Amino acid sequence: MNQLPELFRTAPAVFAAGEDYQIMVPVNAQALFWVEVGEHKFYDHANGIMVSDTDMHRVCVPQNILDEAKSYTTVYRKIINRKPYFPETEEEVRTTFAFSPIRGFDETDTVRFYHIADTHGRPEKPIEAGKYFGENLDFLILNGDIIDHSGDTGNFEVIFRIAEALTGGKKPVICSRGNHDMRGFCAERIKDYTPAVNGKTYYTTRLGDLYFIILDCAEDKDDSSPEYGHTVACHAFREEQTAYLYDIAAHPETTTKAPGVVHTFVISHMPFTHIDNPPFDIEQDTYREWTRILTEEIQPELLIAGHMHRAEIWMPGGKNDAYGQDFPAVICAEPCRDGSYIGGAFTVTREDVSYLLTDDSRNVAELHKN
Ligand SMILES: [Fe+2]
Repeated sequence: MNQLPELFRTAPAVFAAGEDYQIMVPVNAQALFWVEVGEHKFYDHANGIMVSDTDMHRVCVPQNILDEAKSYTTVYRKIINRKPYFPETEEEVRTTFAFSPIRGFDETDTVRFYHIADTHGRPEKPIEAGKYFGENLDFLILNGDIIDHSGDTGNFEVIFRIAEALTGGKKPVICSRGNHDMRGFCAERIKDYTPAVNGKTYYTTRLGDLYFIILDCAEDKDDSSPEYGHTVACHAFREEQTAYLYDIAAHPETTTKAPGVVHTFVISHMPFTHIDNPPFDIEQDTYREWTRILTEEIQPELLIAGHMHRAEIWMPGGKNDAYGQDFPAVICAEPCRDGSYIGGAFTVTREDVSYLLTDDSRNVAELHKN
């Protein structure tokens, strides 16, 4: 990995979100920040003002530009004195990172990605599990509850620690929100610390010939739960996503059936296709509708989820199929009682998707093919 400049608390993470890569990096001092890709410059600015009063920088780079360039250069100037007139900054510090875009199936036979969730602030074993493909990993999915709670903005760093260890800022990462991320003083600011599209933590994105719908079930109990003390409005947030799914289904030519798209995956921290025990048996009408839209109109290959602290495959018609899904739900994030960790290793070809449940010693627990 590159020698990191002293400002960076971790390597940058290159999140795929919408049609962009959101290049984000946690920092330890005030600085102006931008990214150069070829002749293009992408600034972290707020309506023309370069942002420095932050511990997390982000720039959005159109995916096609970075895919073509295959490298990017982070540039910063630390602040000396940001006075109203003639502010003073240090010299530029530049660091170049190679980047490996995801190739389409015209260029490659196989795309490999690893799925991690539910690390709850303890990244060591999940990182070991995530090394399953070694250098052949193409991209990473971090699917919620990576942190244990959002009580402090410093907690978000663990997301970047895992991305650093497994991608080094050189490969894409898809990141979603889990229910534990909803908790704590800084939860309302998570969109400033993780990828979001127009401020929303649900979105779509594409990598090579793979299309992703990232959904956010938010909390796991009803909004009225005393545990939340009136601080959540998740039902309204889920209704937004019902409309969003209808919108995706209404425009297949630009989403799941866009030219070149071969497989569609739904990424959600929670496997909403089953009904959990009370008080977690919420939103049945909403989740039935989501499942129906997906099954009848969008037809994804798989739902990939965590949250259950299990590593299981839930097939259509099985005991966990509450609403009649026609796609498997792959539950692949298990922090085990003995301290080990199981995640999901996915290998995608034009024809099929196979997935393994693998642990931090690279043992394979189960193999499935779709
Ligand atoms: Fe969870």
